[in-house]
Amino acid sequence: MNIMELYEVLEKRRTYRDYSEKEVSDEVIDRIISAAFKAPTNDHLRQFEFVIVRGRENIAKVIAPLAKNMAAFKELVHEVDDTNGDKDKMDMFADALPEQQRMLMQSGLLILPFFRQSQCPLLQPKEQSSLNFFASVWCAIENMLLAATDEGLGTVFHIPVGDEPEKIKRIVGAPDDYEFACLLTMGYPIDNAFLPKQKVIDIKSRIHHNLW
Ligand SMILES: Cc1cc2nc3c(=O)[nH]c(=O)nc-3n(C[C@H](O)[C@H](O)[C@H](O)COP(=O)(O)O)c2cc1C
Repeated sequence: MNIMELYEVLEKRRTYRDYSEKEVSDEVIDRIISAAFKAPTNDHLRQFEFVIVRGRENIAKVIAPLAKNMAAFKELVHEVDDTNGDKDKMDMFADALPEQQRMLMQSGLLILPFFRQSQCPLLQPKEQSSLNFFASVWCAIENMLLAATDEGLGTVFHIPVGDEPEKIKRIVGAPDDYEFACLLTMGYPIDNAFLPKQKVIDIKSRIHHNLW
């Protein structure tokens, strides 16, 4: 791959929340997961495990703990509508918030990227570097998003809130010393999938030479 192809993939990666029913093959999933293991990792060990859930019924069982938070999400949509905030951001939230459960089921493929959280509990970090395992899994996930884009897939993830992580870990039978970073879905987007406008950043204004 030359440099232009990589930058094209970076341009094409978008968060999709509308998928067709076309199935993503095991072969494609294997390639995307192999990309995860090419990312840098803090302890050299790449202690990632992936739970793949296929089929809407099975996915519904795994994401059942999300149901109780949907009411809260809907409240948030109203809050978002009421703010005088950034229009692109409001468009994104208005589209995304009510979609969370549906978007995770629609493509019939859900991936839970697990990482081994040794040393201290994820939510009780002692210092910034305590979050290294979490940082590593996100490097791995970004590789997956880019690999999926290169395969012609759209991607989206839901960040679990409240007690969702513990409940979902129990449902899938994960070991205690493993955490999952997100509920990741990928699939073939429908033709007219809604994509909120991306912010256009003046790169030069974000780069500081020698001093901020
Ligand atoms: C840390 C993080 C958390 C996110 N959480 C969610 C989420 O819970 N649900 C969702 O639908 N999208 C989520 N997103 C996707 C963002 O909404 C999306 O990346 C952003 O609107 C920019 O759009 P783009 O990815 O198409 O460039 C998250 C993205 C990041 C980086």
